[in-house]
Amino acid sequence: MTYKSAFDDGSVRIDASLVSSHIDEDRIASVQEEVQKAADLLHSKSGPGSEFLGWLDPGSIIDAGELIRLKETAIRLREENDTLIIIGIGGSYLGARACFDALRSPDTRIRRLRYAGTSLSARYHAYLLNALEKERYAINVISKSGTTTEPAIAFRILRKELERRIGKNLASTQIFVTTDRAKGALRELADTEGWETFTIPENVGGRFSVLTAAGLFPLAYAGINIDALMGGATECAIACREKNIERNPARLYASLRHLLYKTGLPIELMVSFEPRLAQFIEWWKQLAGESEGKSGNGLFPAGAIYSRDLHSLGQWVQQGPRILFETFLTVEACSYSMEVPQIDEDGDVDGLSYLEGMQMGDINRTAQKATRIAHSDGGCPNFEVAVPELDAYHLGVLIYFFEYAIALTGYMAGINPFDQPGVETYKQNMFALLGKPGYEEAAAALKKKE
Ligand code: PA5
Repeated sequence: MTYKSAFDDGSVRIDASLVSSHIDEDRIASVQEEVQKAADLLHSKSGPGSEFLGWLDPGSIIDAGELIRLKETAIRLREENDTLIIIGIGGSYLGARACFDALRSPDTRIRRLRYAGTSLSARYHAYLLNALEKERYAINVISKSGTTTEPAIAFRILRKELERRIGKNLASTQIFVTTDRAKGALRELADTEGWETFTIPENVGGRFSVLTAAGLFPLAYAGINIDALMGGATECAIACREKNIERNPARLYASLRHLLYKTGLPIELMVSFEPRLAQFIEWWKQLAGESEGKSGNGLFPAGAIYSRDLHSLGQWVQQGPRILFETFLTVEACSYSMEVPQIDEDGDVDGLSYLEGMQMGDINRTAQKATRIAHSDGGCPNFEVAVPELDAYHLGVLIYFFEYAIALTGYMAGINPFDQPGVETYKQNMFALLGKPGYEEAAAALKKKE
């Protein structure tokens, strides 16, 4: 029964019966020793990158005093502003964006989040400044290192504009810095200017930082229930300690990814029929890509939203090279009731009478079932990772679930899942080409390649 697994409380369930063409159940069973070794490395904190395991215990990832302060600040800020601009890149913004997009509801009074620091496009920033003309905004600049160029430039632009609009003194009450407790240019700047600061703990890397102030402050501002988010992650951390694969879908997920990669499928396409999960898939892409793409190995994480992308990538998935598998991220309940309406006057010109009165949620589920079977028949193995609800609690569960499973897969592959040395190469080239002091030699070497 190893194709199926669920946590005891039903918060995550996996159905992997459609991978049987590529991996048999015995193979999944036989890899459990490796999974156990990876879990032992993680929990004994003796594997590579063990100085970045602060996320492993969500209950102690954030200081209680800081949590209270960030909630209070967020409430005050909501009264004073229309928009909070998150300035950050990679792990410093994707988690907040993923949760905000997944959880904002049409019924709740929420504040707007906008994003900067992920692009050096002048056009992007011109459009952003234009949109902000009619909004009262505050800034939350998030950078653990405090030295990343893209957010640093965006911060300069937005800070200058804010100071121009409301004056330096008032602006300084609307600027919030999330960074390392002691190090980095941003920390130094914040201390000099007297801006309020929040902390990304030293032992938590960017892509594992969504449950620190990096994610929690903007989410609290946006009115998301961060206690429920943390609660979900905390419960999941307990459930992930389970050794029995049938009761621990995080272990099954890690095993499936590991084995499917080994059978010659180097791409994992994470898909969802729920468009609200598009940014969550972006978050997962970064978590997996930066953690695993090392030493010439690692699954390439790709994402798609169906049905939309069935009409773009669907053809490729069905009949292109057989080099990928799909993970269907599913929300089981549909909290919104919406029927296909009855329209008597037109007869049945659009041919939809047979669906009249049917719930959209049921049609969407059927579309997923049809797609999974079609892709499996076409040689693309796929499995489902399902949560019962799309709410803060279950999103917290999913965050921890993927962090934990990807850490396991990384250790099973024998790499350090918690560093990202490869990201430095483009940065060094950019500094050299832009003429940053200290990069003269690198600049000369690059010139020869032009
Ligand atoms: O996961 C990571 O560590 C990275 O994606 C970082 O979050 C990203 O590079 C941004 O770094 P910083 O927060 O130092 O600006």
